[in-house]
Amino acid sequence: MAAAEALFAFWRDAGVDACFEAEPVDRTVFVAPVAAKGPATITPLRAPGAPPSVDEAAVEARRLAAGATTLDELAEAVAAFEGCPLRAMGARQSVFARGNPQGSLMIVGEGPGAEEDVRGQPFVGQAGQLLDRILTAAGLLDEAFITNTVFWKTPGNRTPTPQEQAVCAPFLERALALLKPKAVLLVGAAAAKAVLKTDDGIMRTRGQWREWRLSEDGIAAPVMATLHPAFLLRQPQAKGLVWKDILDLSARLRGEVVEPGA
Ligand code: URA
Repeated sequence: MAAAEALFAFWRDAGVDACFEAEPVDRTVFVAPVAAKGPATITPLRAPGAPPSVDEAAVEARRLAAGATTLDELAEAVAAFEGCPLRAMGARQSVFARGNPQGSLMIVGEGPGAEEDVRGQPFVGQAGQLLDRILTAAGLLDEAFITNTVFWKTPGNRTPTPQEQAVCAPFLERALALLKPKAVLLVGAAAAKAVLKTDDGIMRTRGQWREWRLSEDGIAAPVMATLHPAFLLRQPQAKGLVWKDILDLSARLRGEVVEPGA
C-alpha cells in the first residue's frame, strides 16, 4: 500500500491527472452508425453502465436546473448531476460559482483548472487573481458573479469540448435566469464560442455587445466577450484591449449606455 501511495504521489507531482487505456484510441475517427433498413421499430437500449448521450445528459441537466429556485440550490443541483463526462476524468469536485448572487454582472469563463478543482471555486488560480485585480481596478469586483461553461476540470487543462459545454449549458442558462444580471462578460474564446454560438475567433468577437436570450423563458442580457486573463499572463501587451472592454462594460452597468431605439 505504501509503495502504491508513493507511486501515485509521484505521478500527481509530475502532473498526471487522468488515466487512459493501455491501447490508444483514435477519437478523431468517427464511425457512423449503420443506417437501419426498413421501418425503425426498435430503439437501441444503452448498455448497462454506458454513459448517457449528450442529449440525454442535457435533458437531465435541464430537469435538475429547472428545479433550482436559488443560485445556492443550483450549485447543489450541479454537484448532484452525474451526466457530465468530465466527472469521470479525474475531477475532484464540481466547481460552480463564486461572487455576489445579487450582483449586476455575470462573468463566464471556460472551465475550472487544477487549482479551482482543489479549492472548489472558479478563477482562484493565477488567471483568477489577475481577473480579480482587473475587476477591482474597475470597481466591479463586488458586483460580479463568476462561473464557467463547464463545472468540472478537464484532463490536462484542455479546452472543454462543445459536447461537454452543451451538457452543462442548462445550468449556465439557469444561472442567468436566476441572477438576471445587467450585463454578462464572457472571458476567453471557449466561453465566447459556446454562449454566442459562433466559430469566430476571440479577436473578432471581443468588445462587441450582443444579446444572450434564453429560448425558454425569454430572459435576456447584453453580453460581451473579452480576452482570457490566462492569455494576458502570456501576452501582457494585450491588457489594453481588455481594459477598453472593461471600461465599456462598466459604463453599461452604470447606465451610461443608450440602448438603440430608446
Ligand atoms: N480559467 C477559467 O476559464 N475558469 C476558471 O475557473 C479558472 C481558469
